Amino acid sequence: MGIGVLFVGFFLLSCVVCVKGVEPKASPTCTFPAVYNFGDSNSDTGGISASFVPIPAPYGEGFFHKPSGRDCDGRLIVDFIAEKLNLPYLSAYLNSLGTNYRHGANFATGGSTIRKQNETIFQYGISPFSLDIQIVQFNQFKARTKQLYEEAKAPHEKSKLPVPEEFSKALYTFDIGQNDLSVGFRKMNFDQIRESMPDILNQLANAVKNIYQQGGRYFWIHNTSPFGCMPVQLFYKHNIPEGYLDQYGCVKDQNVMATEFNKQLKDRVIKLRTELPEAAITYVDVYAAKYALISNTKKEGFVDPMKICCGYHVNDTHIWCGNLGTDNGKDVFGSACENPSQYISWDSVHYAEAANHWVANRILNGSYTDPPTPITQACYRH
Ligand SMILES: *[C@@H]1O[C@H](CO)[C@@H](O)[C@H](O)[C@H]1NC(C)=O
Ligand SMILES: *[C@@H]1O[C@H](CO)[C@@H](O)[C@H](O)[C@H]1NC(C)=O
Ligand SMILES: *[C@@H]1O[C@H](CO)[C@@H](O)[C@H](O)[C@H]1NC(C)=O
Repeated sequence: MGIGVLFVGFFLLSCVVCVKGVEPKASPTCTFPAVYNFGDSNSDTGGISASFVPIPAPYGEGFFHKPSGRDCDGRLIVDFIAEKLNLPYLSAYLNSLGTNYRHGANFATGGSTIRKQNETIFQYGISPFSLDIQIVQFNQFKARTKQLYEEAKAPHEKSKLPVPEEFSKALYTFDIGQNDLSVGFRKMNFDQIRESMPDILNQLANAVKNIYQQGGRYFWIHNTSPFGCMPVQLFYKHNIPEGYLDQYGCVKDQNVMATEFNKQLKDRVIKLRTELPEAAITYVDVYAAKYALISNTKKEGFVDPMKICCGYHVNDTHIWCGNLGTDNGKDVFGSACENPSQYISWDSVHYAEAANHWVANRILNGSYTDPPTPITQACYRH
């Protein structure tokens, strides 16, 4: 038996070596000294918590063992990006304490849209830090970095600042657009939403151009998730008509809109590549990766995609994760499930860490990107 195991081990090893040997990739791994991220709650690592009311426990309990400003039990895709690039997790730009920006900053806030919205966060949770504001904040961050760097006298004064020359070597990541769709679903019909997309995507393209004009070259752009697969879409929905949901329980029409948005985003990225001749822009099909998980839950070891780990959801009573409420006169708390690692949905809107990890494992190795290369090769223009 020992020989058998040895033989199998040898066989596997030699096979790995032989595959590696014939791999055509000659390009060395990119070294990104920093990541600057722009987005919404899918990648917020503390912005909304710092600016408004902290996100409470049990958020963060799985990995950080305390609330971490993230809408998740643990890590987000942006955290797995940092891990993959051997960089520390990104501090939120809006966080005022305990931050370190040596290897980047995160401008994302939960509820952010690409287009500035005419409403306050206290109405529908739309963040005042829309993408144009995030870019203004980045520009200010960059200008102040340069100034503080020049003024610094001792090395320790520089240790938590980015190195100014490294802005042009950084990876710029985007994950935004989902809330533009949610505002659209609230205020517009489907034709109007479709008509609004070119303007929304031009504003995203302008954000990329702004960074490019200042020397940024490497961009990693996530498309939008399958909107209709968020369990929250089914709250208070009675008598769901035939054909309204797909076989996994997702709202079809909303996914059609998200898919249309992504198609136009991909076209806009292709155009951006011609407009910005020195930029390496990777389009990342997060939608397809998430949908691949949602349509394969059993095989991948997850529960039904419409099940929610955290919160109190009984009949028409919905108490949000981490909140207190009442049901039939009884106090109830929106607590977490026993086994978050088997859930796709953490709180009915946001993905649980295990699902983020599953998706990150696939998008970061190039399985769902255009061009189809891993994030560690995202500095090459194809
Ligand atoms: C902004 O909100 C006000 C008040 O609801 C409304 O009258 C106005 O048309 C809105 N403007 C835009 C650009 O949506
Ligand atoms: C939920 O609804 C079902 C069916 O109407 C009912 O039997 C059950 O008691 C309800 N549960 C709660 C906690 O209200
Ligand atoms: C990426 O990783 C996933 C999960 O381990 C694997 O199934 C897939 O084949 C990998 N893709 C590439 C291009 O390496």
